[in-house]
Amino acid sequence: MSWSSKVVLLHWISTLLLLLQSAAGFDGAIAAAPDGFLQAAFEPWTRNTTSRAWTGGDVGASCALTPTRTLWVFGDTLIGHWDGKRRVSEGAAMPHSSVGVWDLGAAPRDAMTWRWGPGNASFFRPSWESSKEAFWAAVTAPRLVDGRVLVLGNRVLYTGEGGPMGFRTNESFIFTIDGAADRPDDPASWELDYFSLPHTGNLSTGGFVDFARGALLVGPWLYLYGNVRTAATGGREVLSRIPWADLRERNFSAQEYWTGAWRRGWGDDLPEALATLWSPQVAEMQPQWCDKTGSYVALTIPFGSTRVELRAAPAPEGPWTDPRKVYDIPPPQNDTTKFFCYATMQHDVASLPRDPSSPPPDLVFTYVCNGRTLADVFAPGAEASYIPQFVRLSFL
Ligand SMILES: *[C@@H]1O[C@H](CO)[C@@H](O)[C@H](O)[C@H]1NC(C)=O
Ligand SMILES: *[C@@H]1O[C@H](CO)[C@@H](O)[C@H](O)[C@H]1NC(C)=O
Ligand SMILES: *[C@@H]1O[C@H](CO)[C@@H](O)[C@H](O)[C@H]1NC(C)=O
Ligand SMILES: *[C@@H]1O[C@H](CO)[C@@H](O)[C@H](O)[C@H]1NC(C)=O
Ligand SMILES: *[C@@H]1O[C@H](CO)[C@@H](O)[C@H](O)[C@H]1NC(C)=O
Ligand SMILES: *[C@@H]1O[C@H](CO)[C@@H](O)[C@H](O)[C@H]1NC(C)=O
Repeated sequence: MSWSSKVVLLHWISTLLLLLQSAAGFDGAIAAAPDGFLQAAFEPWTRNTTSRAWTGGDVGASCALTPTRTLWVFGDTLIGHWDGKRRVSEGAAMPHSSVGVWDLGAAPRDAMTWRWGPGNASFFRPSWESSKEAFWAAVTAPRLVDGRVLVLGNRVLYTGEGGPMGFRTNESFIFTIDGAADRPDDPASWELDYFSLPHTGNLSTGGFVDFARGALLVGPWLYLYGNVRTAATGGREVLSRIPWADLRERNFSAQEYWTGAWRRGWGDDLPEALATLWSPQVAEMQPQWCDKTGSYVALTIPFGSTRVELRAAPAPEGPWTDPRKVYDIPPPQNDTTKFFCYATMQHDVASLPRDPSSPPPDLVFTYVCNGRTLADVFAPGAEASYIPQFVRLSFL
């Protein structure tokens, strides 16, 4: 058999496998493409480049505030300026978080107003923030409940272990924002508060637990996706849930943990007893219900890879299908010697402006590619790195 017919055969075998694997989810073809219409909101170099501005941030999770305003939450943020299409490193500052308010009535290019804290401070600034500790936002609940926004993330301690950027996750934290729906254009007036999620971080009873990697609201429940690591079971994706009304009161007694059945209340055996949704775990992501497939959909990028994968499930706890590749990260960010990609966030299509030139997609997501070194982020031609990248997806 010639080399080229082997390639063709392999291609058909892998296509067949993809179809078989997806049988429990969606069997048809899936079209995915960069969304240039929405991406214009994230091309800050097309705007005022002379003053200090938002020049990049990761995470990129969104939450509808009002019918015309959508909140965007970013993690570590670069504040500086642009020299043409080059992000200038000299004089750049890096708060640990920022937000954007998207005006759905404006053209995407002019739609986003970015905010961070006073001076070069983080927008989400707990009392314990210092040069050694910060809140790393990972995800936001996709819509407000009772007028309140939730931003989930972790308290991170910079330890320098394993390199200058070495860090250790201390505990999962939730920030609440009140007043954003009433005063969407005045983030400085929003009332912020925060609290830790019990039984997260490096537990004295064994195991590491993080429940702030994805959030889903279904009926009275807030589902918290995360991961555990134990010596016996390694790292894997797991799930907890808590009634919104109880979380509001910071009453965790009704919190439940998915062990193959829902179990109420914490037990020290849980790091090992929690059921595996999939393994290994992924970084932050935002799952969603998808009308077109009639299932929940989670998009992930396996660590260090350049492929976006889709899993589907009839319920938030699963069973989740095997992953099916739906998108390849395009160049230059597909060069894994220079970039790594993560933060696959789905966005509510109704909370984004409508592209008049094409039919609405079934699903929109963003991902972020970070440079392996700061030089890769500030290199000429790397302007799309460390900025959420929009992809539109249609189930055919
Ligand atoms: C850019 O922003 C600065 C500071 O806000 C302002 O003084 C300047 O006029 C702006 N330039 C343009 C071209 O909009
Ligand atoms: C913000 O950071 C820049 C660059 O590091 C610095 O020049 C500026 O003084 C800082 N501003 C404040 C208010 O700290
Ligand atoms: C998180 O850090 C605080 C303050 O250093 C400490 O009291 C607490 O035990 C830490 N929690 C975990 C789970 O590491
Ligand atoms: C958990 O704590 C132990 C003991 O304090 C420490 O050796 C280990 O590095 C910690 N692991 C993580 C992931 O923080
Ligand atoms: C906490 O929640 C539980 C279960 O919903 C409820 O029975 C209990 O009364 C609540 N505790 C407080 C102090 O509100
Ligand atoms: C990146 O993608 C382009 C276009 O598909 C391809 O030509 C190139 O070989 C890829 N680069 C890497 C490092 O995989």
